[in-house]
Amino acid sequence: MKVKDQIYQQPLTEVAGFSFDAAVAQVFPDMIQRSVPGYLTLVENIGVIGAQFYQTGSRCYDLGCSLGAVSFSLRRQNPQVPIVAVDNSEAMLARCDEHLRRAGESENIELRCADITQLKIENASVVVLNFTLQFIELAQREALLAEIYAGLNRGGVLILSEKIALESAEKEQRFVDLHHGFKRANGYSDLEISQKRSALENVLIPETVQQHQQRLQAVGFESVEVWFQCWNFVSLLAVK
Ligand SMILES: C[S@@+](CC[C@H](N)C(=O)[O-])C[C@H]1O[C@@H](n2cnc3c(N)ncnc32)[C@H](O)[C@@H]1O
Repeated sequence: MKVKDQIYQQPLTEVAGFSFDAAVAQVFPDMIQRSVPGYLTLVENIGVIGAQFYQTGSRCYDLGCSLGAVSFSLRRQNPQVPIVAVDNSEAMLARCDEHLRRAGESENIELRCADITQLKIENASVVVLNFTLQFIELAQREALLAEIYAGLNRGGVLILSEKIALESAEKEQRFVDLHHGFKRANGYSDLEISQKRSALENVLIPETVQQHQQRLQAVGFESVEVWFQCWNFVSLLAVK
């Protein structure tokens, strides 16, 4: 059963920077579904994309796997696919491991507690960064994407989902307001919305779609397309 996210419900004298600790791991499925518009649609369709791009004998990588939603989805569409699922939060990985074991899905899914900026990607046909790159320091993003590109086989795919920034202050405000409307419609109070926003400041650094596209092309991806967008939440398909 999903545990309800109430982390920012009470007024805090000081809002600490957001971290993927045990308290967040406990409520994560509820938090992400009530905070990211289209999250379940995205996860479900990442499985569909994975099934189409998977190359026999290669691997899938779920980078910043949290509780393994993407790995589960890849498996639903392609039951035997080998997956390397990586996260640097022990609390998230412990729950991921528990979920996989309970579902009898741990075989062929290698869980690694590691920093994805230090990872070697090898023989990959599907790599997923589902709302993870936004937590990586700006200066490290290009090197990470270059490593992914180098580790992908020709014809392989990177799926990159991100919260984005808009090019003008006016558009940014419009989409931020719509996103907050979505959170309110899902039961978050104005206090919860504003305290979470403060916690994420300087932790989640969004960039524009153009910045993502340019960087992906700079590291070598020939084809880069937006395949999903709901307000300031976007997913890109980058094919090698
Ligand atoms: C928003 S969550 C990702 C959600 C998940 N991909 C899903 O679809 O449910 C971001 C995850 O990235 C992980 N993360 C952030 N920085 C990381 C890093 N440098 N190395 C590995 N994992 C990282 C966090 O611990 C967190 O679990």
